[in-house]
Amino acid sequence: MPEDHIQHSLAAGAPRPDIADLPRLVAPAPDPATIDWPDTATVTHVAHWTDRLFSFRTTRPRSLRFRSGEFVMIGLMGDPDPQSGKRRPLLRAYSIASPAWDDELEFYSIKVQDGPLTSRLQHIRPGDEIILKPKPVGTLVHDALLPGKRLWFFATGTGIAPYASLIREPQTYADYDRIILTHTCREVAELEYGRRLVEDLRRDEVLAELMGEGFADKLVYYPTTTREESGRMGRITTLLEDGTVFGDLGIEGGLSPDTDRAMVCGSLPFNVDMKAILEGHGLREGANSEPAEYVVEKAFVG
Ligand code: A2P
Repeated sequence: MPEDHIQHSLAAGAPRPDIADLPRLVAPAPDPATIDWPDTATVTHVAHWTDRLFSFRTTRPRSLRFRSGEFVMIGLMGDPDPQSGKRRPLLRAYSIASPAWDDELEFYSIKVQDGPLTSRLQHIRPGDEIILKPKPVGTLVHDALLPGKRLWFFATGTGIAPYASLIREPQTYADYDRIILTHTCREVAELEYGRRLVEDLRRDEVLAELMGEGFADKLVYYPTTTREESGRMGRITTLLEDGTVFGDLGIEGGLSPDTDRAMVCGSLPFNVDMKAILEGHGLREGANSEPAEYVVEKAFVG
């Protein structure tokens, strides 16, 4: 029974409740954060990669079906509104970093110290619940691309998340001869999540069984840094424009709409620059409803 109703009925001279009922009647309303929210997932694992990056795994709701590369809305209950005292869910779009066949979900996130969601999300621990809306959407999916020979995954920062899903997706290796994952970050430590993922994938026996022996030979990992010395320096956009990438990978003639397909996921300026480069090579932007040669999605950055 809501508290306001109890007070009202007592004030109106209604019969006083039995004393045995009083503790139950005057108990405070349950904290919405502890109510069994219908769309929740339980955190099973958390890994902190740098002071600005972390990944976590959760249980997968039975109702959640998705295509590798899609995103969902996830979050936590917000602080109570100072006026109404009501708490609302604080949700953001997150690419699912695990593949569609995995029985858990994985997410890769930035930590923003004054970000409304990530300032709190970064403190989650195994056993905690997060809110998860089981309505996956997104354009970084195989269905949005026409058949091709080479598939490029272009990422900056946490934009690698959808590719963490797609490089563990059997269809990626069934549909293409070569898959090139590029990841540009400011510093070497920010590459670690992706580097480990590729390394683990190459020696994963379950994946080899699922995708066919030698599948990982098709995958080329091409990490670059821009603000710290590493094996390969520079923005991927620059390395595409000056031809370095093609020289490094032995690709003659650059990108072609006949053979190359691309997915782009990063900050807005990165996406804009990549679109110009891809269009300059004759690739056209596709969508679920109209597949073409490349697709773009903005990485979550708040
Ligand atoms: P840079 O260090 O030269 O800005 P951020 O942390 O700002 O999201 O950037 C992540 C990475 O993406 C950085 O290495 C950054 O390089 C790079 N980057 C940012 N904007 C672009 C862009 N328009 N084109 C290519 N790379 C970009």
